[in-house]
Amino acid sequence: MAEVTQAGDSKTAKVFIVPVKFQKKRLEDMKKSLSKKGLQYADTLSPDVTHVVSECESVDQVEKYFAKSGQKIPEAASVVSTQWLIDCLKASKIVEIKSSQVLKEIKISAKPEVSPAEENECNRNFPEWACQRKAKLEHLNKKLTSAVEVLQEFAELRDSNQDYSRALAFRRASSVLKSLPFQVQNVEQLKGLKDIGEHVKTVISDVLDHGSSSEVEEILKSEWFKKMKLFTSVFGIGPSTAKAWIERGWENLDDAQKDGCPSGDWRIAWGLAFFEDLNVPVGRIEAIAFSQIVQEEAECILPGVITTLVGGFRRGKSQGHDVDILLSHPTDGAEMGLLPKLIAALGKRGLVLIGHKEKNSFRSDILYQDFKLSARGQLDHFEKWLGICKFPKSFSTPKISKKSKPEINQPTPCTTDTDLKATADSSLDESMNELYEPKAKKTKGSEAIELEPNRISAAPRDWLARRVDLIIAPKSQYYYALVGWTGSKHFNRDARLYAQKKLGLKLTSHGLFNLEKREPLTAQSEEEVFSHLKLPYIDPADRNC
Ligand code: CTP
Ligand code: MN
Ligand code: MN
Repeated sequence: MAEVTQAGDSKTAKVFIVPVKFQKKRLEDMKKSLSKKGLQYADTLSPDVTHVVSECESVDQVEKYFAKSGQKIPEAASVVSTQWLIDCLKASKIVEIKSSQVLKEIKISAKPEVSPAEENECNRNFPEWACQRKAKLEHLNKKLTSAVEVLQEFAELRDSNQDYSRALAFRRASSVLKSLPFQVQNVEQLKGLKDIGEHVKTVISDVLDHGSSSEVEEILKSEWFKKMKLFTSVFGIGPSTAKAWIERGWENLDDAQKDGCPSGDWRIAWGLAFFEDLNVPVGRIEAIAFSQIVQEEAECILPGVITTLVGGFRRGKSQGHDVDILLSHPTDGAEMGLLPKLIAALGKRGLVLIGHKEKNSFRSDILYQDFKLSARGQLDHFEKWLGICKFPKSFSTPKISKKSKPEINQPTPCTTDTDLKATADSSLDESMNELYEPKAKKTKGSEAIELEPNRISAAPRDWLARRVDLIIAPKSQYYYALVGWTGSKHFNRDARLYAQKKLGLKLTSHGLFNLEKREPLTAQSEEEVFSHLKLPYIDPADRNC
């Protein structure tokens, strides 16, 4: 290959642009500019090409591209970056190639190189089910999965209730991409992988060739999608309400606010009032600080209590949309009565804003009824509290908080009064069930629910509203609850379908059941859950499928 092309040979120079990673429009514009400036452009890779211009990072990637059509880079050609071409267009002539514009022979990469033979082997042995594969948060095909996940999200929002098959197909494809041990550079590498259909392949080719997919770009630009995303990001709003809002002609959250809260749903009223807070991602430090307080308070009420931060944080995420905490106790049944007292204790520390407690609705015969495996069919029957807590701003910056005045959130390790300790007094439980519950039903109309959240949200405050889920599981169901509440959602969905199809068993957050024998398979550890499922143990950090 030529060393450095000298400036001034604009007449003999002939430029070929490798289309990979170029936006179609940009490529066309560059070709036009070349002709305008009187510079020669080659439509095909002829031997007289002197400059091969590419967006690739290294010569070997360019070689791979040509090899697909049995071509080679001409001996005399320099392989250069697009920046060189831009410089030429600016100068209206062929300019000298700067050393920074010469593509490196081989991409310097920390990623393990996988040979085509190894890729083939990998695809042949690729586990069929997502619950059999490792999927880390950091993987090699992020650009591709984020494109595919836009299509998934769009399908989820658009498709009629309960029809998630389209969305699921996209999810399966992105889940495969997340587990691949190599970075996909052309769709050929996906040969033999069953969950990647033609539609997804087109999207992937688009992203690989042009840097983005036109279908994805269209969705992201669409007003409908933008509104649906905005509306469904309000606590309590699902796709069907969001659609109804759009049909009413609502453009933004102000329109929803103006209308008050017609449904009377406390989640929507508080979700709207605290929209900004709730849409700032919860950081890991905050989540841990809060779950430590929950642990302290729960320990005072019920010594020996087991408190686990679950959800995305347990899978290693550094941010989340909420804090999920699973509580249990080594003695089955001892956990009963804990939740209302825990809410009261957290409330005393000034940490609770509003929430709703759901009673335990588990009965073993429920298991033998509905067998829905839709994207939403993941609801369980645990006693739980779903609400909004007040996280002092010092939670996110724990070091600074020492200097500030002692506050509600910095008391002795345990604020629980003796009367809150485990007790058989059920009237106490009853009265505490009302604590921090929305008061909508008590007032006629929805005045209270309208005014209260907005008033509190607008007043000066030193805390952030954060979504919190507290779940109570008896020890006999704990490890299944742990798997279920660790997620990811797709991991659960896949594991449940796998259990049904491959083993004829029903998996839920309550247990694993043989429906014919009407028998549960109990587990004393997460490992045992996996072994009952005849699955290799997958670490929580590898369940991000
Ligand atoms: N889950 C569940 N039952 C529910 C709600 C959630 O079993 N009623 C499970 C979900 O399948 C998920 C986990 O609990 O695996 C946590 O749910 P969620 O907070 O919605 O998701 P995260 O993965 O924690 O995502 P984020 O970080 O955004 O909070
Ligand atoms: Mn979560
Ligand atoms: Mn949650």
